[in-house]
Amino acid sequence: MLKHGGQLLAAAQRYGIPSEKWLDLSTGINPVPFVPPPIPVEAWQRLPQEQDGLLQAAADYYGSNNLLPLAGSQAAIQLLPRLRNNCRAGILHPAYAEHAHAWRSAGHEVIDLPPHDIDAALDRLDVLVLIHPNNPTGATFTRAQLLGWYQKLQARQGWLIVDEAFIEATAQTSMVQTEMPPGLIVLRSLGKFFGLAGARVGFVFAQHELLAQIQNLLGPWNVTGPSRFVAQAALLDRNWQAATRVRLQQEDARLAQLLHDAKLTPDGGCGLFQWVKTDRAETIHQQLALRGIFTRLFAKPPSLRFGLPGKEAEWSRLQVALTDISK
Ligand SMILES: Cc1ncc(COP(=O)(O)O)c(C=O)c1O
Repeated sequence: MLKHGGQLLAAAQRYGIPSEKWLDLSTGINPVPFVPPPIPVEAWQRLPQEQDGLLQAAADYYGSNNLLPLAGSQAAIQLLPRLRNNCRAGILHPAYAEHAHAWRSAGHEVIDLPPHDIDAALDRLDVLVLIHPNNPTGATFTRAQLLGWYQKLQARQGWLIVDEAFIEATAQTSMVQTEMPPGLIVLRSLGKFFGLAGARVGFVFAQHELLAQIQNLLGPWNVTGPSRFVAQAALLDRNWQAATRVRLQQEDARLAQLLHDAKLTPDGGCGLFQWVKTDRAETIHQQLALRGIFTRLFAKPPSLRFGLPGKEAEWSRLQVALTDISK
């Protein structure tokens, strides 16, 4: 089982289909990415500079100065467990597996939590990690739930970590606050909505003391000059952002309908992917792979995640394949 979506070269080898012939739907990355302006030579030549405008662009876009840029939100996922003594962390399950992996690797006790078990488990937790909306299930929480859990955890110096990698493609409200209060940590990514996963840029929002500890572990220049330039351009382009939000909403509905028509009604999703729980997940994954369509297969529970096709020809290709295998 592949650990992440997007491992197209491995699939190409396994199925003997050259990588350029595949339709890769295995990730939740926007198939119509923000296209950055040409990168100035200085961005390659100089050491990255804190005053280059990225921090201000990010503060304006996200609505808080209490932030730190990172080489992808993955960097924070790996570092945060190192900032607490051994404790008990409840982590949403099933979900993006890197959180549980990082907390376990750092020696913490990890409790896998389906959404309906969170309330009952909360009194036993020091840390609660949520992915909101969840990847791959698309599960969401109300603001009242999130704030209630935060307050209970904070009352005993606990943490609420909310990974909002996919939030721009939904109607959910971010937990980023102008002044981040103690014990609330929010992660954001430029990889999904902006479609810039290869640039490796994300942000962590938290109180200054915690940000200083993270910065200390990261050391200087953790985001490259070219990536900082590209990220800044993306965060400033309000027209692109507004148009993309509208487009993703429409395409999300289209994908859900297409799957429904093929008797694969989604069990959840968000603007960038749909999630289908089915005992036939592995078979369907293979049938699609044989037709050069790469989906993300999950074993527990048996399920498939479908990212959005991009071009019209890709939509038709998916439709034809789904019709074919549903016969
Ligand atoms: C829920 C979630 N959070 C975080 C990440 C890491 O993203 P990045 O490091 O590109 O910001 C991923 C990547 O797939 C993800 O699915």
